[in-house]
Amino acid sequence: MRSIHRYRTIDSTMTAAAGLPLGSVVVADEQTAGQGRHGHSWHSEPGGLYCSMVLEPRPLLTLALGLATAEAIGIGCDLRWPNDVMIGGKKVAGILVQLVDGKAIAGIGINLNQTSFPEALEATSLRLCTGREVSAKTMLENLLDAVDTFTALAPEDILRLFTQGSSYAAGRRVVVDGKIEGTTAGLTPDGYLVVRRDDGTDTLIVAGGVRAAGS
Ligand code: BTN
Repeated sequence: MRSIHRYRTIDSTMTAAAGLPLGSVVVADEQTAGQGRHGHSWHSEPGGLYCSMVLEPRPLLTLALGLATAEAIGIGCDLRWPNDVMIGGKKVAGILVQLVDGKAIAGIGINLNQTSFPEALEATSLRLCTGREVSAKTMLENLLDAVDTFTALAPEDILRLFTQGSSYAAGRRVVVDGKIEGTTAGLTPDGYLVVRRDDGTDTLIVAGGVRAAGS
């Protein structure tokens, strides 16, 4: 059973969702202090969908949420490990999972109807990709259904689907955090990314910013 808390403007749906019971969803039209991964901010002007769900922690949750977000968006998305959702090489959605008091606060931001972004962000919106206006209400419904579906999958199915849906999972030349360069060589059962360096050694990426080499 879900309980949905809606706000026009909020600092961050992550802080509002922390402390709420399992099944709660916080959704806002705009955030004044949107949080991204690794302490970055998340550009949260009106036009996007900003939500946080209170979920049971489970293995591979972030990968399952990436799959769910791509499914809800529904048009040719790529998944950049661990959970950036990309269209045409630009980021259309981001996912942030925080563990708070034994619960997973799963924050998802989807760029829907914005028509421009600061250039440094390398971001896009569904409106910019398709030329069409997207309903935030419909997207939230699709997203919640998809989250239910993908978080219920067995870990091996999540790994398989993520590997199929991500051009970054294997055979992609990448740089991690500007330091580690190599070719991706699949995911471990724990969902970590293997990067094979040119000297043949494998490095396990547990967390970090993966970028296509040369981008
Ligand atoms: C990232 O890619 O860096 C993760 C971005 C996560 C953004 C979402 S928007 C809804 C929720 N509230 C936040 O403050 N952040 C997440």
